[in-house]
Amino acid sequence: MSRPTVRAAVLYPDQAVTVTEVVLDPPGPGEVEVEIVAAGVCRSDLHAIEGHWPVPLPAVLGHEGAGIVTSLGAGVAGLEVGDHVVLSWVPVCGSCRHCAAQRPWLCEPADELIFAQGVLYDGTSRWHKGDDRLHHFFGVSAFAERVVVPASGAIPIRRDAPLDVVAIVGCAVATGVGAVLNTAQVPAGAELAVIGCGGVGLSCIQGARIAGAARIVAVDVNPAKLAIAKALGAHDTVDVSQTDTATALRDLQPAGFDYVIDAIGHVETTEQAIAAIGMGGAAVIVGAPRAGETARFDPLALVDAGQRILGSNYGSTDPRRDFPRLVDRYMAGELDLDTLISGSRPLTEINEALKELADGHALRTLLIP
Ligand code: APR
Ligand code: ZN
Ligand code: ZN
Repeated sequence: MSRPTVRAAVLYPDQAVTVTEVVLDPPGPGEVEVEIVAAGVCRSDLHAIEGHWPVPLPAVLGHEGAGIVTSLGAGVAGLEVGDHVVLSWVPVCGSCRHCAAQRPWLCEPADELIFAQGVLYDGTSRWHKGDDRLHHFFGVSAFAERVVVPASGAIPIRRDAPLDVVAIVGCAVATGVGAVLNTAQVPAGAELAVIGCGGVGLSCIQGARIAGAARIVAVDVNPAKLAIAKALGAHDTVDVSQTDTATALRDLQPAGFDYVIDAIGHVETTEQAIAAIGMGGAAVIVGAPRAGETARFDPLALVDAGQRILGSNYGSTDPRRDFPRLVDRYMAGELDLDTLISGSRPLTEINEALKELADGHALRTLLIP
């Protein structure tokens, strides 16, 4: 019997991304197969392509998507065929010390196997091309017609939510809103700045609006992104294409901010974020830099002013708890996802979508298999 094939976008070690037919094995114990309805293109996909992170290759790319469960492996509880799901790129083990301590976004086996080795929990991959094994990417590999993921990475949501919108909850929105509501726990009345207004930064701005922040300042080098930031709740915008961010933020608010979020993750934006916080403030580092980079800050100022630097991995998200809530907020009109989606393309146009993101012309583009 011939093995089932699906169309998928494979990232090869030479950085080429190619849409091709690949073999997808059926789900093993504790795994589910999901038919992808839509998948978002994220800056982290570009990081992988550009070799900024050690990612096992070749791999089926993509880590933000939503779809419908099509089959269940042995022993899967809590999911049914036909369930609508948003995929999570931390498919938690549920039993390591971080999972036990209610910090599932730090799940150790997810980090060691799913991330570092590009395999599922049994140490193998469901993806093949001819005799070659392909890797999973972030345990999701959403740029495909169908995927097999750990059951814990398929988060059921209400069926009246449009999957080709809520797909972006799985990375940009969980990461950005979560950085504000979970990692920083920004209280009402806080004064805050967000550096970078891509899909992640705009989600931070929306999290700040939901939290009731008294002042939200959006920082970007692209006026079009700043206009969107304003529409999504920023009170002030700063175009730093010609000026230094830390200076511009000091000019705007000499006492510094309660929270400054780095939603880009360049060394300089991280340093700017730390430099712009006020007494008792916190810098929240959400954007991910290249592996191995280091940033500098003034430790005495940090001690004197009682400041904090918070790393926010996946917005400190508990997917089972937070994804359905984020979808509910969207359906209730409290969270704007439509504005974050700049368009959709067929999966075959993945390279055009990646280029648009790299060039700064797109927010989230959804790929439709
Ligand atoms: N200062 C201010 N804004 C900048 C600068 C800069 N030096 N450089 C780039 N930007 C802006 C871009 O104009 C763009 O609007 O930062 C934004 C980045 O957005 P995206 O490329 O859409 O990235 P996004 O998907 O939001 O991800 C941001 O979070 O998850 C991580 O890996 C991801 O590190 C990435 C970050
Ligand atoms: Zn992402
Ligand atoms: Zn765990």
